[in-house]
Amino acid sequence: MSTVLVTGAAGFIGSNFVRLLIEQRPDVSVLAVDALTYAGNLANLSEFSGNESFHFHRVDICDPDALHPLFEAGVDMVVNFAAESHVDRSIQGASAFVQTNVAGTQTLLDLARQHNVGRFLQVSTDEVYGSLGPEGAFSEASPIEPSSPYSASKAAADFLVFAAHKTFGLDTVITRCSNNYGPYQFPEKLIPLFVTNLIAGEKVPLYGDGLNVRDWIHVQDHCEAILLILEKAAPGSIYNVGGDCEKTNIDIARIILSHLGHDESMIRRVKDRPGHDRRYAMDFSRLTSDLGWRPRIEFAKGMGDTIDWFVNTPEWWKTIKTGEYLTYYDKQYGRGGVVGADR
Ligand code: NAD
Ligand code: DAU
Repeated sequence: MSTVLVTGAAGFIGSNFVRLLIEQRPDVSVLAVDALTYAGNLANLSEFSGNESFHFHRVDICDPDALHPLFEAGVDMVVNFAAESHVDRSIQGASAFVQTNVAGTQTLLDLARQHNVGRFLQVSTDEVYGSLGPEGAFSEASPIEPSSPYSASKAAADFLVFAAHKTFGLDTVITRCSNNYGPYQFPEKLIPLFVTNLIAGEKVPLYGDGLNVRDWIHVQDHCEAILLILEKAAPGSIYNVGGDCEKTNIDIARIILSHLGHDESMIRRVKDRPGHDRRYAMDFSRLTSDLGWRPRIEFAKGMGDTIDWFVNTPEWWKTIKTGEYLTYYDKQYGRGGVVGADR
């Protein structure tokens, strides 16, 4: 049985990836790690409590002493999702971004080398490439030109991961994906914020002219790409992952308004985000030609299902909006406790 250490496992994409691993790889033991910051929610993983092949540890990726015993027990692969992930928060203050996204990634790389980990997959983002004009798409050869403190910290992490490969021979791979949507996304991001506001009868804040473009991909498609790359990519490789689905923010707002039976009077125009990237688009042809991957979930279906998930799962996001979710861990396990079978 191989052990995969998944960091940031209690977040949006990390928890969806854990679900995929447990469903599709019964021979894998999942070592889930998360610091449980404001973005980490144990409710995202509660269905695995008691599952023999799932173990959770509340650990900060910047803390080598806490991580050491986990690596010592044997880790075959690391998938690093742990990050401060919200651009607006990075504009308010960058230090947590530098700490987790840069220093935390280096801490994991050092431990991976010391313990002969077989593969280190860094979950990166299209935002490291910066902003596009109306034409073209980012390829893996595009210049790295991040705009926000968030994307600058992710770009720094990518360079450190690649350096660990080149200098020390660590088997690393980097994935750079576009905007994800789907269940368990924290309601500070565009889609879950707009959906939950509207369900609660509140207006939705649209930045600037609403014409910024993002390429949307369902989180399930992203997770499947990560698993494929984890298992099949060549050491040192970098892969773009995209949804082939460009939409302006006003398009997204209109889709959500219409699905929930509202009109545009529920849009509140607000000041633009400073340094707001205008457009992202991904050329993921390398991933298609090397490993045969393409996104499978059609956007209209994936969005409809996602909006319905939020409509049908109000207890999940309401406890986030009240802050109650932050107390789950201490109530159930106390500090330093373990969810799932003990190791
Ligand atoms: P998220 O904010 O939902 O989850 C991040 C998780 O990391 C949280 O559970 C948080 O508690 C945990 N975490 C934060 N700091 C930590 C630390 N110091 N130690 C351990 N855990 C810590 O983010 P997400 O949207 O799931 O993104 C996951 C990863 O995917 C990030 O690296 C992000 O850059 C990348 N990514 C996200 C998207 C997207 O559209 N959401 C797209 C491409 C790439
Ligand atoms: O592209 C991948 C990136 O996508 C990830 O690396 C990031 O972790 C993830 O947060 C996301 O970044 P964005 O900044 O693109 O996502 P966000 O949901 O914050 O914003 C999407 C677009 O919607 C962006 O153009 C800003 C706009 N927006 C966002 C919010 C939160 C609004 O108009 N109003 C809002 O309230």
